[in-house]
Amino acid sequence: MDSESLIAQQLLSDPRVAQATELLSAALTEHSAKLSARGPDAELAEPYQKWLEVFAQLRGNALFFPYLGSGVGQGALVELADGSVKYDMITGIGVHAMGHANPELVRELVPAVLADTVMQGNLQQNSESLLLSKHLVTLANQKGASLDHCFLTSSGAMANENAFKILFQHKAGSSRILAFENAFAGRTHLTGQVTDRPKNRVGQPLTVPVDYVPFYDAARPEESTQRTLQTVENLVRRYPDAHSGFIMELVQGEGGYYSAPREFFVQLCQRLRGLEVPIFFDEIQTFGRTHAPFAFQMLELDEFADVVTIGKMSQICATFFRKELNPKPGLLSQTFTSSTTAIVAARWILRKMIDGDYYGPDGRIAEIHQRFVARFEAIHAQAPDRISGPWGIGGMVAFTPLDGSPEAAKKVLHALYEAGVIAFVAGAGPARVRFLPPFLSLTDDEIESVCDIVERVLLSDALDQ
Ligand SMILES: Cc1ncc(COP(=O)(O)O)c(C=O)c1O
Repeated sequence: MDSESLIAQQLLSDPRVAQATELLSAALTEHSAKLSARGPDAELAEPYQKWLEVFAQLRGNALFFPYLGSGVGQGALVELADGSVKYDMITGIGVHAMGHANPELVRELVPAVLADTVMQGNLQQNSESLLLSKHLVTLANQKGASLDHCFLTSSGAMANENAFKILFQHKAGSSRILAFENAFAGRTHLTGQVTDRPKNRVGQPLTVPVDYVPFYDAARPEESTQRTLQTVENLVRRYPDAHSGFIMELVQGEGGYYSAPREFFVQLCQRLRGLEVPIFFDEIQTFGRTHAPFAFQMLELDEFADVVTIGKMSQICATFFRKELNPKPGLLSQTFTSSTTAIVAARWILRKMIDGDYYGPDGRIAEIHQRFVARFEAIHAQAPDRISGPWGIGGMVAFTPLDGSPEAAKKVLHALYEAGVIAFVAGAGPARVRFLPPFLSLTDDEIESVCDIVERVLLSDALDQ
């Protein structure tokens, strides 16, 4: 609410705040402009190594990459505490879509830093939470979905937990979940059971039965679609009225960047409607990154969206649901919705996404994807045994390195890291190298520099050792 009678408004209109914002922004822009890609500083090598060892000791295990950020970056570039500056093509696994230390965003965050609390929560929320929820619901329904509600939370796994609780309560007596093979739903006790990875559940009691359904196979479109539909039929017949819902990623993220044509999902969703199984789109990784703000909008599946979750690049996570599924009081609540800065950042990101030219088949996201594809295909033409693919869509880009074994992917990821590009693995059979680049700020020059490094690493003899 904007009113001069509010002290909050008077604080934000204070000329000193505007002046401080200008000074902060100028200092950030000036210092981050000094960054360019470079290797580590030899003098920092020893203390940096020590820090990593201490951190590994405190955490109980070592980090995947020896990454400790210094707190400074610019666009795709990020400075590490060892003095190196690298191209970040994974952005915290899809989180920093706006790039590092975005000066425009930092300006927006100044009022959030001045806000009365660090965290917002269920009992006491500030008006930003309301405005964000309103924007999210409008965006989710812009092409015809009927997602009346949006419950904010602070992690993707928690958004999915809330979604499952809503689904179980809605379909009283249901005890099972349908999911795709290769699904990734998070690492809480429940979502870890849905995630189709045995090593993520070692030692965990299985409390909710999950029935897995094969995903679309691009090599056998018709046959695989029929197999998926038949598996669903069989499972629902075997366990009548037992399924609370079907969770699906429309582009499988952690599973290895697999997607399917609209027709596959339409047939599946229609079958699920007929069987009265609610449909749950997990868009925690896809949100914002395909050719529409939501992948279900790109695939025109709006009418089928009963429950949808988002996270990662939205900074704050959310569970959307239809009014028929609105749970009884007591089921959902949280001390932390998220931090005020995250909520303000989420609002800025949504505005940026919508006001920019990012979506549609000719939008900037598609263009970025195409630039990576062109370069990866050119490397493949030179050395077909070094890279295949690429896969993914929009702001989700992947290639299979060498023979696609997990060892090969790890080797290439570490070689890329050493050479100045941070990426990550997706899938296991084959294991792929994936990028979730900061597409809201990514420049063509940055893409070319990254691809030059990828080419150099993939064509290097060092990979044969
Ligand atoms: C599809 C999907 N669902 C859920 C999650 C879990 O999100 P978080 O790591 O924020 O708990 C992820 C994270 O990678 C994801 O990709």
